[in-house]
This record gives sequence, structure tokens and C-alpha cells, in this order.
Amino acid sequence: MTATLLRGRLLSFVRRPEGIDDTGSYRYESDGGLLIEDGRIAAIGDYADVRRNAPADAEEIDHRPHLILPGFIDTHVHFPQMQVIGAYAANLLEWLHTYTFPEECRFVEPAHAARIARHFYDEMIRHGTTTAAAYCSVHKASADAYFAEALRRNMCMIGGKVMMDRNAPQGLLDTPEMGYDETRAVIAEWHGKGRNHVAITPRFAITSTPAQMEATALLAREFPDLHIQTHLSENDEEIRFTAQLYPDAIDYTDVYAHYGLLGPKSLFGHCIHLSEREADAMSEAGAVAVHCPTSNLFLGSGLFPLKSLVRRDKPVRIGVATDVGGGTSYSMLKTLDETYKIQQLLGERLNPFESFYHMTLGNAEAVSLADRIGTLEPGTDADLAVLDAAATPAMALRMEIVRSLADELFLLQTLGDDRAVRETYVAGKPMKTVI
Ligand code: GUN
Ligand code: ZN
Repeated sequence: MTATLLRGRLLSFVRRPEGIDDTGSYRYESDGGLLIEDGRIAAIGDYADVRRNAPADAEEIDHRPHLILPGFIDTHVHFPQMQVIGAYAANLLEWLHTYTFPEECRFVEPAHAARIARHFYDEMIRHGTTTAAAYCSVHKASADAYFAEALRRNMCMIGGKVMMDRNAPQGLLDTPEMGYDETRAVIAEWHGKGRNHVAITPRFAITSTPAQMEATALLAREFPDLHIQTHLSENDEEIRFTAQLYPDAIDYTDVYAHYGLLGPKSLFGHCIHLSEREADAMSEAGAVAVHCPTSNLFLGSGLFPLKSLVRRDKPVRIGVATDVGGGTSYSMLKTLDETYKIQQLLGERLNPFESFYHMTLGNAEAVSLADRIGTLEPGTDADLAVLDAAATPAMALRMEIVRSLADELFLLQTLGDDRAVRETYVAGKPMKTVI
């Protein structure tokens, strides 16, 4: 058995913070010890207590004065879009057609997919992200590359071969049969292998015919435990076009509901412009609205009403995500910084504890994996991020007068990025310093 004892300031959430003074929502150890055995957290507590009960030969790593948190979780990202991040476009549909679809066509080449997958995981690790739910491209080779690289790094990853059979270039289209068969093949080859989770992934209603939606419905019935991921209500033009393509649906959400895709493992990217009826339907189904703030601002899609969706009588489950390459940063710190600013514009406050809850436990709950990741609870996987709030000269200067944990977290969120991530552990192994 391999045992490692980390020393540092430990922060882990137990539930959503109700306010900035809600100290019961998290556990904080100012001189903490975290014992890791065989890739899992074996004990957490005051350093001296954990040290006393740890194996005598446990390797000790001192991360003081830094914070040790659960690794960040990104609940919506496109791994084939790494080379179109920051592409100049007026809106979603122009961005897709001008840059993104042509770029994704290149993933028909397995060698290209494998190369970008390596870069993708390097970027995740660099930014302290230990789990992501990613869209691959339409090509099975892209899903193979994505999951093979996750397996090699022993990372807990969710992903899916995108299904799309219309309204895109020929090189990016499958058919209802191909989408079904290849998704089944990806499930057979990768689901449950290592820490891999396969998601059923119709891109969005615009790029799937009703026949393909029937095929996704069949997959959802055959594999009820799998995640489902797609896009919903991101952009006004997208919403109008969807209504034309599915004239019998009550609204956009109803398109997916009709095909049995609305459930507790369903992750819907964006959900900016939902009606009350749609929010009720999402809530009743336990489906997750995934907020992608840097993308929503970059593409001018709109302001996601996070706080009001959480506060409503029928609350909607929330995930937060980068949405690279529509999103403009791989950093979950930067992502929550933009979430904060969007809430400011909507007249709402998002306190720093809520932000860090979302990056960790909140997103683990969103992807229904809180029993394995997102906390420092004994028995869960030792996926961790070590954060330095004085990582840059500007941060160090600001830190000189910071006195509270809340202010330190807020500083990390506001000025932090990959430079603030000192180390990233995956199943107990330090990964960042060895990239
Ligand atoms: N809707 C359909 N595909 C995409 C995509 O790749 N990115 C974003 N932001 N929205 C989408
Ligand atoms: Zn997306």
C-alpha cells in the first residue's frame, strides 16, 4: 500500500453555502493533514491527529501555506475546439459555421485527435481541473482518443461521441444508424474502463433530425444510467430555428423531453432563456442547467439567471463550466469570476464560498458523482488542487492585506488562473509539476 500525507490548509464543502457566514456548509482545517492511501483519501483532520494515526512510512508533502481543495470539475467543454478558442465571431451560429465546424472536421484523423487529447489533458491539469464532461467530435476516433488519454492519466472523465446528422458540413455528419452504432461501440469499449464515463451526446436539436433524436431516445432507454449532454436555449436565433425544425414541440425543452432526454443525468449546456414552464420541467425531471459564463459573454448569448433558478419554488440543478472553445478560459477560477460578474449585472450576489462550492462539490453533484469526487471526504478519490493566493506579484500585493478565508477565495477567483494552481493530484498522484 502506498501512503502519502499532505499538509496544508484544507477546504471542502458539505453542501451549498446559504450565505457568506454559513460556516456549516464547509470544513476548513487551518493546519490540516490529508492522508492518501492507494489513490483515495483515507483520513482528514488536524495535521497532528492525522500524522499520529498515519503509517510511519507515509511520504509527507508540505503544501503550507497553500490551500488544498478537491480538484475542479468542468461540466461542459469541447475538446476538439482547442484551436478555435478566441475566434472572432458575432454570435453562436456564425461562430459554429465559420470556425468550429470546419475545425472539428479535422478529428476524422486519429493522429490529430490523439495529439489534441494530450494537449487537452495537459490544460486540465495545468488549471487544477481533474474531471470534465466533454463533447468529442462526430468521429468515433475522437472519442477513442479522448478516453484513451484519460485512461493513461487515470482521470475521471465524462465524454461522448457527438451525434449530428444535419445542418453542418458533410465531413461532420453521421446518420441515425451510425450515431447509434458508434455510440454503442464507444460505450462497449470505454464506459467503466478506468474512470471513464460515456455520455449520450446529441449536439443539439438543430443538428439532429427527428430520426436521429429517435435513435438517442433508444440509447437513453437502453442505457438509463448514462449521462446525456446537449445544448439548450443558448441564443435567440438558435431558439427560433429549433422551433421551426420541431413545430410540434411546446418549446425548446419539450423537444428533448419528447425523446426522453430530460432526466437526472442530463446536462443541458447554457439554458439562458428558459421560460417558467421550461424551468419547471427541468426541475421536475432533476435535469441540470450548465452555466457557461465566459462563452455566454464572448458570444453575446445572454445573462444566465443562476440565483433565480436556484431560488425558485421548483429549483433547477446547476452546473458551471468553461465551454471551451466558445468559452475563453480553461480556468474554473476565471469561469466563476465571470459568473460573479453576470450575477452583479442581474442585481444578485454570488459569495466566494458559493463559487468554490460550484467548482467542486456543486459540480460533482451536477454530474451525480459526489460519492467519488468533489470533496475531501474519506473514501473518495484523491483528486486535488493546491492553490496559492499569492501566485503573482499583483496577487501577493493584494494578499498582504487579506485577513479572511472569504477574501482569500475571492482574490483567487478574481485574479487567479493556472498560475495560482501549485499542484494538481489525480488519484493521489501529483500531475502538474510533471507535465
Ligand atoms: N451549440 C451547439 N454546438 C455548440 C458548441 O460547440 N458550442 C456552443 N457554445 N454552443 C453550441
Ligand atoms: Zn458547448
